[in-house]
Amino acid sequence: MSRIRIATLEEIEEGKTIKFSFTRGERLVEGFVGRFKGKLFAYENTCRHIPISLDYGDNRFFTNQGDALMCQTHGAVYEPDTGLCTRGPCAGASLFPLEVVEEDGVLWFEED
Ligand code: FES
Repeated sequence: MSRIRIATLEEIEEGKTIKFSFTRGERLVEGFVGRFKGKLFAYENTCRHIPISLDYGDNRFFTNQGDALMCQTHGAVYEPDTGLCTRGPCAGASLFPLEVVEEDGVLWFEED
């Protein structure tokens, strides 16, 4: 088990996202954290329609309006705070949440 340092809390600004990678078993998995209406969120970078990344590797998760997260491939729209897909081919499904830990102003992820 190892700890992955994601970012300091200040680095995770409103409407911004930061990606990180971790291993689960043999697999490399990508996650992202962000802030929406002051609150932090952390999800696996996996769409619930087809298990591919939500972004195109460009760290674009928010819509242009900044009020939702969006899958770049087919446009599924997710609530940033709950991860629930409200529109698109996987409506009703939710992003996989990740548990992150804050310690002394730094956000960490603990691998299994
Ligand atoms: S792969 Fe994300 S909406 Fe289709």
